[in-house]
Amino acid sequence: MENSIHKIGVFTSGGDSPGMNAAIRAVVRSAIFYKKEVFGIMKGYEGMIEGEIVKLGARSVSNIIQRGGTILKTARCEEFRTPEGREIAFKNLKKEGIDALVGIGGNGTFTGLHKFYEEFKIPSICIPGTIDNDLAGTDYSIGYDTATNTAVDAIDKIRDTALSHSRLFFIEVMGRHSGYIAINSGVAGGAVAIIVPEEEGDFEKLYDQLIAGSKTNKKSNLVVVAEGSKIGGANELARRVEERSKYFDIKVTILGHLQRGGSPTYFDRVLASKMGVAAVEGLLNGQKNAMVGVRGREIVYNDFEVINSSQHNEIDSESLRIAKILSI
Ligand code: F6P
Repeated sequence: MENSIHKIGVFTSGGDSPGMNAAIRAVVRSAIFYKKEVFGIMKGYEGMIEGEIVKLGARSVSNIIQRGGTILKTARCEEFRTPEGREIAFKNLKKEGIDALVGIGGNGTFTGLHKFYEEFKIPSICIPGTIDNDLAGTDYSIGYDTATNTAVDAIDKIRDTALSHSRLFFIEVMGRHSGYIAINSGVAGGAVAIIVPEEEGDFEKLYDQLIAGSKTNKKSNLVVVAEGSKIGGANELARRVEERSKYFDIKVTILGHLQRGGSPTYFDRVLASKMGVAAVEGLLNGQKNAMVGVRGREIVYNDFEVINSSQHNEIDSESLRIAKILSI
């Protein structure tokens, strides 16, 4: 594998996700395997603008495969949205001689890197790292599996206490625009109802379902709500049900950022390792402006036009159908 790339810069950007460290490790080690130099750019685009760039060796990424978060830190950077910001970033990369980039993150990371490629033509590859799993062009993004398992674990614990007290719980999981965590943690956790941002939602139907359950001796109820629900988050839904009926003893749990941390599952570690190697090999094989993805067992490279045109990894409506059947 020979080409003109000598120095690869790697960074994480946007919301962190468990498995990002495993991806960094894979990028660093595979680059060194192919005799390239690797540099870590701290805090994503912010570090690119501030020139916070550090040389990485094979040992710099020892003992991180199992760690949540990102050793390179991350940020959401407004300045990179401006041409001036990107110009400064380009100069800093040039100063270090960096001639290729690997960005690990979600939609915002991709959009930024695509724009940067169009302006400065530095070969760039993105690795999907977001718990939301909302990226077109890949079945899975790094961190989604871990976050969903974290949510399931929490739901199981809530179920114990819900059952003891015969309570109705509204459990809010992350996902402003994506119902992936809600759907799969809801099905796996045996939720009575799952509310996702991709659907309009119907409060009356939800209420009727809860009342119907109460008449068939349903002792405890768990409703899983994605934070971007169009009929209100967990607090709002709890308030609306309480207003209508004194029958239920209602509690709310918002899982929040605990879904973003923790040791990645085997699935996320393997996914991150494969994608990290694929990103480096893709660059060395001439990919210039692409996102690594996984389709079934295959690694694929999507160009940015494909990702931008379809926007969102569609939710699995079959799972929602199953959840409805199983919640009687
Ligand atoms: O994109 C990942 C995500 O965790 C979303 O699910 C959530 O809506 C958002 O990030 C929260 O962002 P922040 O950490 O900036 O509050």
